[in-house]
This record gives sequence, structure tokens and C-alpha cells, in this order.
Amino acid sequence: MTAVATAPTATAPRGAPTATAPRAATEEVPARRPVPLDAVAVRFTGFESLPGRDLDKGELRTLAASVAVDPSRWEEHVAFADEQRHYVCLYRDAHVDVWVLCWTPANDTGWHDHDISSGAVAVVRGALTEHNLAVGQPSLSTDVPAGEVFSFGPEHIHRLVGKEAASVSIHAYSPPLWRMGQYSLGSTGILRRVSVSYADELRPLDVR
Ligand SMILES: [Fe+2]
Repeated sequence: MTAVATAPTATAPRGAPTATAPRAATEEVPARRPVPLDAVAVRFTGFESLPGRDLDKGELRTLAASVAVDPSRWEEHVAFADEQRHYVCLYRDAHVDVWVLCWTPANDTGWHDHDISSGAVAVVRGALTEHNLAVGQPSLSTDVPAGEVFSFGPEHIHRLVGKEAASVSIHAYSPPLWRMGQYSLGSTGILRRVSVSYADELRPLDVR
């Protein structure tokens, strides 16, 4: 895990040119500041115990972690396929949806956003790699091993790939996924957004 940089304490003299400190990648890469599942999971008493409103990023992180540490909630749905990523919706209502996703190294979501939804990803087996698209510099890549969870807001754009065979993750979104943005870079590198249904399997629209 990458350590968070400590903010400088020195104050520049009035009128002196101010140097802009390099932005810590952890500020914009939620996968680089995950927390252990056990640190945020609570005893999950069932989806009927949800508060009946949209959840924020912290609440989604707790929900995903709490479901992740209870295999009885998702284990029966685990299956793997290179050709088509296997995933099952565990719960959906007007405010939240929760999924179990199963990954092989061949499974790749492609670049996408989650429209207006915040989300959380709890890795429970194996490991995933999250990629973050950057313009004018190399995109970032962060491995997230089993036992860690991270969350993000609707501004987040990423690409998830199975890092290890037989990886499993629990994802929670609020409001529930409906439309998502799938990005194509094409052969020229020009970025295009394609609106897709949450029911469609996310997959790369090009080879990048
Ligand atoms: Fe995603």
C-alpha cells in the first residue's frame, strides 16, 4: 500500500513564488488507499436492514466489506469464465445494488464510469488490478489484494482486471447502477463515451 505523503508545514514568505507540490496519487486513486475488510465490516443482518435511502461512499464500503466477509451471502454464485465475466446481482432496490463478481486474468471491464453512482469494491479472493486513465501521461495501475476494500464517487473512471485466477469481489453501488459510461480510445486515441445498461457486461471497446 502506498503511504500518504505528509503535507508540508513550512509557510512561504509573503510575495514569494509558491511552488506547487506534486499531487499525491492517493488523492485521486481510491484503490491506493484501501482499508482492510475487517476494519470496516460489521455483522451483516441482511439487506432488509438497509436504511432505505441512498448510501455514501463510507456506507458503501462498510456494506461491501460486511457482505464480503460473510461467504454464505455469495459463495454459491461463484463461477469463472475467460470468455464472459461471471457476475450475479445479490440485491437491488431503489437505493443500492450489490453484486458478486468473479474474475480470471482474461476478464477486463474496459474503461468505464458509473454515471451518477458511488461505489465500493471489496476483494475477497485473489486480487484485482485497477487502472486509472490519465491524459498526457501513463495511466496508473494499482493491485488490490484479497482482504481490502476501497470506495469512490461518481466522478471516478476506472478499468478493473482480474490480477489472479479465481478472484472474487463484492461491489456495492448507490444509487443503483442504471446507465454506465463505457469509454473507447480507438486507434487515434480520441476518447469517446458510450452509454451502456448496467445489465450489459462491461468489456473493452478497443484493444488499449
Ligand atoms: Fe467500475
